[in-house]
Amino acid sequence: MQELIQRLVEAFGPSGKEDQVRDIVRGEIEPYVDEISVSPLGGLHAIVNPGGGTKIMVAAHMDEIGVIISHVDGNGFARFHKIGGVFPQTLVGHRVRFEGDVTGVIGAEASVEIGDAPKLAEAFIDFGASSVAECPVRVGDLGAFTRPFVKLGNRYVAKSLDDRVGVAVAIEAAKRLRNSPNEVQFAFTTQEEVGLRGARTSAYGLDPDVGIALDVTRTGDTPKGIKMAIELGGGPAIKVRDSGSLSDPRVVDLMVRRAEAAHIPYQLEVLQAGTTDATAIQLTRAGVPVGVISIPCRYIHTPSEMVDAGDVENSVKLLVEILKAPVTLDRE
Ligand code: CO
Ligand code: ZN
Repeated sequence: MQELIQRLVEAFGPSGKEDQVRDIVRGEIEPYVDEISVSPLGGLHAIVNPGGGTKIMVAAHMDEIGVIISHVDGNGFARFHKIGGVFPQTLVGHRVRFEGDVTGVIGAEASVEIGDAPKLAEAFIDFGASSVAECPVRVGDLGAFTRPFVKLGNRYVAKSLDDRVGVAVAIEAAKRLRNSPNEVQFAFTTQEEVGLRGARTSAYGLDPDVGIALDVTRTGDTPKGIKMAIELGGGPAIKVRDSGSLSDPRVVDLMVRRAEAAHIPYQLEVLQAGTTDATAIQLTRAGVPVGVISIPCRYIHTPSEMVDAGDVENSVKLLVEILKAPVTLDRE
């Protein structure tokens, strides 16, 4: 899966510009599903066994955090707003890429104390231009952070592992699953980082009986880290709670039982702040029972997110275990 993950993380896909990622996903998953379509908001729906059994929506978001140009001054320096959760300490010295292979470097006003993180309004992007005419971007252009993929020991490090690793887990599960007694609705969603927008409309259109989101979660295993019982290498995290959703206890139960039956390591997740597509799915139409398989991830929303290769593999295994047998929440 390393090669697929690398291709996915190195693709350009800030919220609203997910086309490049969608093309990769479609090329990978099309031979393994029965129906494929693109939603009005640009999401990719890949359906296994349409019309058969419980409808399970499996959502992974294709978009990543980024920037949007808001102003270009007379010397060619561009100001920007953030797309999603961009932190001030990840700005200065970092590089952002725009469509057409345009790269810029983020700098900060001299008034910012040396060593301090600038506020967003005090940062700018330098494209090596010295006038508006030379500046290769204009107001409204979307950019994303750029950084090559590396493997460190058994860990993958890259930008946008949130949530391309979830996308890769869904693709790999589809390849291994081949068919299912359930109707499995793989939904590669858009605009998650700006408010779970694609998942909301995809869930409405797909009208699932159960929703499962695949996304990253934080860990408590770094020096003086947050108090959180999640570590890299401990297995996929089965979410119980985050700041947007309470997983349906029947879905949590099902995930735990299938993990234990297949001897797949897992961790139970209570995340203090942050949420996933499951939140939007849960509140669609008359309501949908949801659960989340989270891939533990350090340094989320920085250009060097880190996940464990074993956790990725075990996330695929757990998802396949869930999807390959009939899912009936009320009887299990
Ligand atoms: Co995110
Ligand atoms: Zn995410």
